[in-house]
Amino acid sequence: MTVNRDIAAIVFTKWPRRLRSVLDGLAATGAWGIRMQLEAGLPEIAFNDRSILATNLIRENLRRNQVRGDVVRGNLITLLEATRYDFVDIDPFGPPTPFLAPLLEHAKKGSGLGVTATDTSVLSGTYPAACSRRYAARPLRCAQGPEIGLRILLGFCERLAAKQGNAIRPILSFAAEHFLRTYATVDHRTGASPLAFVKRRSGGEFVAARPDENMIGPLWMGPLHDASFLRSLTPSTWTSAAGARLLSTLQREADLPPFFVTTDDLAARERGSPPKLEVFLEALRDTGHRAERTHFHPRGVRTDAPFGTVLSVFRERMPSGSTDGSGPAS
Ligand SMILES: C[S@@+](CC[C@H](N)C(=O)[O-])C[C@H]1O[C@@H](n2cnc3c(N)ncnc32)[C@H](O)[C@@H]1O
Repeated sequence: MTVNRDIAAIVFTKWPRRLRSVLDGLAATGAWGIRMQLEAGLPEIAFNDRSILATNLIRENLRRNQVRGDVVRGNLITLLEATRYDFVDIDPFGPPTPFLAPLLEHAKKGSGLGVTATDTSVLSGTYPAACSRRYAARPLRCAQGPEIGLRILLGFCERLAAKQGNAIRPILSFAAEHFLRTYATVDHRTGASPLAFVKRRSGGEFVAARPDENMIGPLWMGPLHDASFLRSLTPSTWTSAAGARLLSTLQREADLPPFFVTTDDLAARERGSPPKLEVFLEALRDTGHRAERTHFHPRGVRTDAPFGTVLSVFRERMPSGSTDGSGPAS
């Protein structure tokens, strides 16, 4: 959980609103909340876990770290129905779905949430039936599966918030290792819903689609982050090298459009070998567009260039003689 906690501590040093009450909802050892107090200077935190072993351990860890905190033993669902916090962190084994309805039903306006999902294979398309049951959404197993999964998770939160006349606003969202993670605030609804369905074409092009049996979604199609907030963040002396790398990649891709292409998908479409990633990125920038690596995929490129431009730049930069001469795959 190093990277997850690294990013959390960085986020809290600049959280956009004053946090007077914070709940580490599924606290286990209390390590998350203790680190947030020690590193990010959060105020006294409430730690909740239903396990007596966990709550005893949390008390011991608070004592050893000389940190004060309110330790509660109970079902998080009941606690969320009874008490409102300025920020609630939900970090379960597996899906966060059982906790999201009580959280978003009772959330204070202006409050924040941090949600981890470790059911990544469900959200990323390996088990579409389970995704449909849990999130009432259709995923797709493909290179962009984790971004689709994150957008399904945000879309699920948005639909729950909408039932209360509210809307979520993502502050920072990412995929790392085996989990997806988002930080968001809950506010009054203003404007149209950013939920939509898409379909994926050959080469990894995503286009808007009407809801029918083969569509992906509903997905959150708004920004995954508050880009200016994200750009204001800096690693701390506690941040691991992996955490700092992730932050830097997120900052560069922050305000580029949804979805990315991969050189693998483009090469398969063009039936040839891909250019080096840096060569492709530079060539896209030479067309006057922005192009950045994405944290979602080692050979992914997020760009604001239209897909037609992406394809023609890719073709021009494919190593000569690398195609099999049969033309693009349909
Ligand atoms: C993945 S661990 C949490 C890890 C922790 N956030 C960390 O950073 O180390 C999940 C914890 O949730 C607790 N838990 C599961 N369901 C719960 C519920 N309904 N109410 C309260 N605690 C629950 C489990 O006892 C377990 O300790």
